[in-house]
Amino acid sequence: MKNNKIILSFALIFGIITLMSFYSFPQNKEYRYTKAHRVLADSLRKSAEPYNLIIAENYQDLDLTVRMEIDTLWAYYAGDFIFNNPLVTIGQGFTSCASCHNRAKAGFAGIRFGYGKGATGVGEWRQKFTELVDSQKVATPTHVNSIYSKNGVLWDGSLNCESPLFLEKHSDIAGLCNKGYNGIELQAAKGSKVHNLDFERCKKEPILKQYFKLAFGDTLVNKDRIVQAIVVKEQIDRTPFTPFNQFLMGKNTLNMSELRGLRVFLGKCISCHNSPALGNNHYSEKIAKSDFKADKIKAPTLINLPFDGFYMHNSSEKTIKNAIRAHQLGLTKKELTDINNFIRNALVDATVVESAYR
Ligand code: HEC
Ligand code: HEC
Repeated sequence: MKNNKIILSFALIFGIITLMSFYSFPQNKEYRYTKAHRVLADSLRKSAEPYNLIIAENYQDLDLTVRMEIDTLWAYYAGDFIFNNPLVTIGQGFTSCASCHNRAKAGFAGIRFGYGKGATGVGEWRQKFTELVDSQKVATPTHVNSIYSKNGVLWDGSLNCESPLFLEKHSDIAGLCNKGYNGIELQAAKGSKVHNLDFERCKKEPILKQYFKLAFGDTLVNKDRIVQAIVVKEQIDRTPFTPFNQFLMGKNTLNMSELRGLRVFLGKCISCHNSPALGNNHYSEKIAKSDFKADKIKAPTLINLPFDGFYMHNSSEKTIKNAIRAHQLGLTKKELTDINNFIRNALVDATVVESAYR
């Protein structure tokens, strides 16, 4: 009898451990490196070092932009609630930030241009039903990794108090620069206007009030707090589990082709696609032709691109390979294959991807 119990509890523990190993996330495969792999890997880690590309695993290690006394984690939940619930678009009811920044697509739209007001459905099935649809004629960039692009916001970089375009395009929020706001904070304020975030409805939302009580100390829901909560959410959504990030932290998570791809990346791409998000901080000439008014355009993040499917500011390219080809950097066929493998496999962190139906 006693033996049976012991066997049963061993079986139970074994079962639980097996199940945990199946479901433990993320599963970053480690390769067995030969000497040649190791030499290349070590030299690449060394060349990457000066660029400070590592994404912090722990949100407590982040240098968040926080302007008031808050409980960060609850502010995150409040921001996440606003982001994902249909509080956007006054008087309507089925648009949220996530209508365009689709969480099943890692914060990209997954369609050519995101649709807000005037459309129904979620994700790639979202359809417009009126010509008065809320949609900019540019690709929806992801909000993920915003912490690494504090000032590199919007395709033309205009949401930056220093930008010559700022006053021309965003005079409605010019006062916020005097308060010290910049980058994604300006974006959260601007976005809440452009997309008609329904402040009155936010104020009446009982769940939000409870989140705000835990985050800010009382149930007052106002614009400053809403902006703060969204900014905290955007900054905590990061991608520390890409095989590349794990590689930088010392694990052997890249195979030979991906290592060669990284060599191409460090040689030919990092001058523009830099910061830990591998983008969002450098502005140069447009590559895709369009009538989008901007002399300079942002080199976008290269993380989680396979989840999107539409590339360049005007979504003109449908494959990553063609987007790279359009740069005309004179890559050989092999270099193109390797850099494509690197982007497709090593720059993906599915932990920020959630089902569109939660
Ligand atoms: C109608 C679709 C749509 C909706 C709804 C929407 N966005 Fe966006 N978002 C975009 C597009 C398009 C851009 C890029 C605009 C540009 O660069 O001119 C963008 C840009 C951004 C950026 C800057 C990203 C970067 O790297 O430049 C952030 C952050 C952001 N949105 C957050 C939000 C938040 C928060 C909400 C909800 C209040 C929201 N968005 C609602 C389509 C949308
Ligand atoms: C001179 C700066 C520069 C260099 C160097 C550069 N890029 Fe880009 N990249 C850009 C810009 C700017 C865009 C956006 C262009 C547009 O929309 O017109 C872009 C867009 C992309 C995109 C599309 C991403 C998306 O979501 O839309 C990919 C993929 C890409 N680059 C990969 C690469 C790779 C790989 C290399 C190196 C082989 C590279 N880039 C080198 C500036 C650069």
